[in-house]
Amino acid sequence: MGERVEVMLTEEQVDRRIQEMGEQISRDYEGRQVHLLCVLKGGSFFMCELAKRITVPVSIDFMSVSSYGSDTKSSGVVKIVKDLDESIKDKDVLVVEDIVDSGRTLSYLLEMLQDRHPASLHLCTLLDKPDRRVVDVKVDYTGFRIPDEFVVGYGLDYDQRYRNLPFIGVVKFD
Ligand code: IMP
Ligand code: MG
Repeated sequence: MGERVEVMLTEEQVDRRIQEMGEQISRDYEGRQVHLLCVLKGGSFFMCELAKRITVPVSIDFMSVSSYGSDTKSSGVVKIVKDLDESIKDKDVLVVEDIVDSGRTLSYLLEMLQDRHPASLHLCTLLDKPDRRVVDVKVDYTGFRIPDEFVVGYGLDYDQRYRNLPFIGVVKFD
């Protein structure tokens, strides 16, 4: 069975949108330092591109979570595989995610981070699939709202592949 990837959002579209998001975040965090928290692995490509376009002081940290569930569905039970290196207490934290789907992972994660008393806590995602939402999550910055399709590229994988695509695509099977 053949597999191919159809382009949903071109590299130019994604880059242009990330530039706009960087400008917006720079305005909103004027006079402050923003502490970007990247959720590995998917968020890493987006976070690097976004960080380069933010003009206020930036610091970064990474965490890795895994949800117990099948490969394309998350269960809502989230395990921290790698925790943050630094405390987020009193920091202006911006969580950077690749995609919000059911919202289960983020909802759990945001609650856990809130318990660590950051000065502020906001969420930025490159993609949002609102049709799939099961748990309510407040998204502060959204790159693109997309239809309910399984997408790859720009950090997002299908069976660990395609993360390196510089655009957002949909896997098609012939
Ligand atoms: P949620 O907990 O259902 O919101 O799912 C969150 C995680 O599922 C994301 O951070 C992705 O890692 C993964 N995911 C959800 N939808 C897609 C997709 O369309 N392509 C690739 N990964 C996805
Ligand atoms: Mg992810």
